[in-house]
Amino acid sequence: MKLWKLIGILACGSGLLACSSQPAPSLYQQLGGESGIAAITDGLLHHIEHDPLIVDHFRDTDIPRFRDLLAEQLCDLSGGPCVYSGATMEESHTGLNLTTRDFDRLVNHLISVMQQEGISYAAQNQLLALLAPMYPEVVRR
Ligand code: HEM
Repeated sequence: MKLWKLIGILACGSGLLACSSQPAPSLYQQLGGESGIAAITDGLLHHIEHDPLIVDHFRDTDIPRFRDLLAEQLCDLSGGPCVYSGATMEESHTGLNLTTRDFDRLVNHLISVMQQEGISYAAQNQLLALLAPMYPEVVRR
C-alpha cells in the first residue's frame, strides 16, 4: 500500500480528518436523538421545579403534556423525525407576562442541562440559535 494512502486511512480513522464518506451528524443526533432529548427535557423540568423565581409560572400547567410538547418541539427543531403539534409560542405564552429575566433563566437552565448531558458546545450553540428568535413570541405577551 502506498504510504500516502496509509496516512489517509490512519488520519481518517483517528478523527484527525473529517472523512467525506461519513455525513455530518444532524443536530438531532448530536443531542442524542430521542433518548438524549428526553434527558434534556426532563433535566430542564427538574431545574424549573427547583427554581423559585420561575416555577410559579407553571402552577396551572399540565406538566406531562408540556414535557411531551417541549420534547417534540426540540426533536422537530433539531431535524429529528417529529412534527411539533402544540400551540404556537405566541399562543402558549400570551397572558403569562414573562420577562427577559424569566427567559434568561430558562435558557441558562437549558445550557446547564446540556452541559451535564455532555452535549458539545457547537451543538448547544446550534440549539440556542434556533430558540433565540422565539424571544419576542414568548416575552411580554
Ligand atoms: C425559547 C424558549 C421557550 C420555548 C421553546 C418554550 C416552549 C414551550 C412549549 C412547547 C409549550 C407548550 C405549548 C402548548 O401548550 O401547546 C410551552 C408552554 C409553556 N411555557 Fe414555554 N417555552 C419557552 C419559554 C418559556 C419561558 C421563559 C417560560 C417561563 C419561565 C415558559 C413557560 C411556559 C408555560 C408556563 C407554559 C404552559 C402554558 C399552559 O399551561 O398552557 N416558557 N412552552
